[in-house]
Amino acid sequence: MTTWNLQGTKQHILICNGSSCMRKGGEEVTQAIRDEITQLGLDDVVHTTRTRCNGRCKDACVTIVYPEGTWYKALTEEMGREIVRSHIGQGNILEDSVIYTYEQEGFVAPETSDSIEGISKKVKEEV
Ligand code: FES
Repeated sequence: MTTWNLQGTKQHILICNGSSCMRKGGEEVTQAIRDEITQLGLDDVVHTTRTRCNGRCKDACVTIVYPEGTWYKALTEEMGREIVRSHIGQGNILEDSVIYTYEQEGFVAPETSDSIEGISKKVKEEV
């Protein structure tokens, strides 16, 4: 177990390592993101965490970038590297791969998203 001093960390990348994402290359995506962070010398300002299922398995492999609250879908190793180079490095979101962005009213799916809407939590509570 490790206890990092996270003072000065500017961004946090949550990489899904749940079973659906792992079947779609989650381990390779994790390694690619971490390698790109190291290659760009960003280890002191970007923290990564492997997570269990994030509840968007149809979009596997899922990765989330905070503090922006940008949810990415269907990541490959190369897309993981591109998130680090473009989103983290230059502030450019990879629009075509976004499931949700974080707005004033909460998470919002882009109008251009082709991801499934999923099950409403309100509907689930009524069943
Ligand atoms: S396993 Fe990654 S979203 Fe479910």
